[in-house]
Amino acid sequence: MFDGINEGDVISAIVVIKSVLKQTTKSSNEYLKLTVNDGKRDIPVFVWDIDIFSFKVNDIVKLKGTYSKFNDKDKIDAISFEKTNQKIKLPSLSKNEINEYIEKYYALRKKIKDEDFSNLLDEIFDPKNHIWEQYITAPAAKGNHEAYLGGLLQHSITVTEIALSMKQHVSEFVNQDLLITGCLLHDIGKIKEYEYSTCIDRTTSGKLIGHVSLGVMIVSRLLPNDFPIKKSNELFHLILSHQGKKEWGSLVEPLMKEAVILHQSDMVGSYSGRFDKNKNENKNSLWSNYDENYNRSWYLGSTIK
Ligand SMILES: [Fe+2]
Ligand SMILES: [Fe+2]
Repeated sequence: MFDGINEGDVISAIVVIKSVLKQTTKSSNEYLKLTVNDGKRDIPVFVWDIDIFSFKVNDIVKLKGTYSKFNDKDKIDAISFEKTNQKIKLPSLSKNEINEYIEKYYALRKKIKDEDFSNLLDEIFDPKNHIWEQYITAPAAKGNHEAYLGGLLQHSITVTEIALSMKQHVSEFVNQDLLITGCLLHDIGKIKEYEYSTCIDRTTSGKLIGHVSLGVMIVSRLLPNDFPIKKSNELFHLILSHQGKKEWGSLVEPLMKEAVILHQSDMVGSYSGRFDKNKNENKNSLWSNYDENYNRSWYLGSTIK
């Protein structure tokens, strides 16, 4: 997880403190277990000399500590903390990359011939609603895939493009305008599910409601009064069913061909994003470290000669 760092190395990082738990060892010594975030990941930090710690949750500090693994998981034993005004640099797509995806958004938007769907997209992304800025800035996840600023835009475009290429092979009885609109909006709830002021984290709304329902809430708030009920039912079905199965967070399971295409495109897009993350972190390895979120080690060797 920490590139080029070995057990026993002393590391130094700017982190935000996310939680502090006072605990006691079997021999009645008190210690603190913190969770901190360096912009890329949550890291457990153990503070054995609790006098060196006088900070609170959300403080940004310069942490120095010794890196090691416990039960195959990263951990840091704190050596010192220092208050800092430095900001945590969050992972992000570059400005150019974001601009390229924005161009792709407009190219996809242009393909929509249905006026109700195209006007709805224009209304949702009208500058007065402040949604566009969030749509092009938000991450697609906290850690799973495209967990960086710009990730939601990238994921939404990728899923739409996969869906359109899939549709070429199964085009009969597919409403392309509905498919594009549903793909572009399927994860719109993530603009309220994540916050990224100091580190990428789930919001209270995200934890309590989840991005699927939040998405429907955002779209229904901006739906014109005269929007045809048939079309809104179909669009909401795509958003509500995009996770595929109820145990994966879907409110309903896909009951339309467009919903099946969207769900499968979402799977390919997100699994591929997760694979690429593992591959980029372990370029020359045959296998990734164990990926807890996906319950597997990824085989990374197929493109190694
Ligand atoms: Fe989703
Ligand atoms: Fe998605």
